Amino acid sequence: MSTKKLWGGRFAEKTEQWVDEFGASIPFDQQLAEQDLEGSLAHVKMLKQTKILSAVDADQIIAGLESLQQQLLAGELEFTIQNEDIHMNLESILSDQIGPVAGKLHTARSRNDQVATDFHLYVKQQIPTVIKELKQLQKVLIEMAEANVETIMPGYTHLQHAQPISYAHYLLSYFEMFQRDIERFEFNMKHTNIMPLGAAALAGTTFPIDREFSAQELGFDEIYHNSLDAVSDRDFALEFLSNASIMMMHFSRFCEEIILWCSYEFNYLELSDQFSTGSSIMPQKKNADMAELIRGKSGRVYGDLMGLLTVMKSLPLAYNKDMQEDKEGVFDTVKSIMPSIKIFTQMLATAKIKKENMAAATRNDFSNATELADYLANKGIPFREAHAIVGKLVLQGIETGTNLQDISLDEYKKISPLIEEDVYHDLQSEVAVERRNSLGGTGFKQIKLNIERAKQLWEA
Ligand code: ARG
Repeated sequence: MSTKKLWGGRFAEKTEQWVDEFGASIPFDQQLAEQDLEGSLAHVKMLKQTKILSAVDADQIIAGLESLQQQLLAGELEFTIQNEDIHMNLESILSDQIGPVAGKLHTARSRNDQVATDFHLYVKQQIPTVIKELKQLQKVLIEMAEANVETIMPGYTHLQHAQPISYAHYLLSYFEMFQRDIERFEFNMKHTNIMPLGAAALAGTTFPIDREFSAQELGFDEIYHNSLDAVSDRDFALEFLSNASIMMMHFSRFCEEIILWCSYEFNYLELSDQFSTGSSIMPQKKNADMAELIRGKSGRVYGDLMGLLTVMKSLPLAYNKDMQEDKEGVFDTVKSIMPSIKIFTQMLATAKIKKENMAAATRNDFSNATELADYLANKGIPFREAHAIVGKLVLQGIETGTNLQDISLDEYKKISPLIEEDVYHDLQSEVAVERRNSLGGTGFKQIKLNIERAKQLWEA
């Protein structure tokens, strides 16, 4: 294999191996081999179409590139540090295989628009997979919500019992978050589906290229309108990392709750054995390792975002070698998020919900205090006053170990003669949940409406 530098003409001295190693991106950008061949094929077909290359030359290069595609699939291609990156490695192998005509492939092209094109193609391939996996999770959330409209659990603020809610309502709140994630990735696609190819190094080219032809070959919806922007832009990758970060933040919150709920103290949930691990010393342990790892991966994905933001900050236009640092973080994020979504989905789908414990937690507390205040307000007592009255009852209740539903009607009558037997109906957590039918509330009617809405969104 030839290792003569493709840009070596201007140089008298050789670089040293360790310097080459530092500058090379081939150890990681070989992941873009498929996209690079695809981009080169589109480019040479365009050169043929515009007669910049003769049909004879172009056909030879096309056949050579198609053969490289086969060799790549068969795992037969070998890359070397001396050829620096995937672009020059593939060109050099092509040259070894078809001879000097390979040198015509790079006509009207630079590695700057080449690498940007490869990277666009790569991110463009990832986005639909992320969306598909998120939709799989949304499907599980809808199914679980349907089965749990009347499953009552404590709703928390400040991690303190606040008001009882339906477990379906809780699940659907995550459906909404993942819906926004999907929409963000869909928008990300708009900025990824733009082709830099044809921008050449930075200023375009004197050759009569046909960028529309290349864009059609590569399936790009749009073409960068400014050649400087085309080779300098990494917004699409930053958006991808940013969307992945927000998405992982959602997973991290969900995981945190799952971890808490699997604890002895909460005991609302038990993960299936498939998604749990034990301890090498404590025989009783069943740990939610997968949930913890997904929570941990969120930090790593944020790091990838911060890394690329920092690389891009202050870079003068157009291409700078700094930008070679754009790829590994994106690869790392893809490697982190894909299994995270998959594992999370199955972990959730196979978890056992301990409905009785969830419901019991809403009875042995004061999370029905708002119900009593609302009850008094409905009888005409100003809400602030009602709030103060109930606050006192809670204070007494804590001292005597009496919940609001256990206070006798005689006692209630002493507070207000307006309180009737029906107060006990309102104080039940099931009733508290069922009745909260303001738009978007946890009331059963609202949840059923939202399940229908979720199904429509899912199908759209
Ligand atoms: N390996 C380089 C990268 O990943 C390709 C572009 C190099 N362009 C250049 N002018 N040095 O960014």
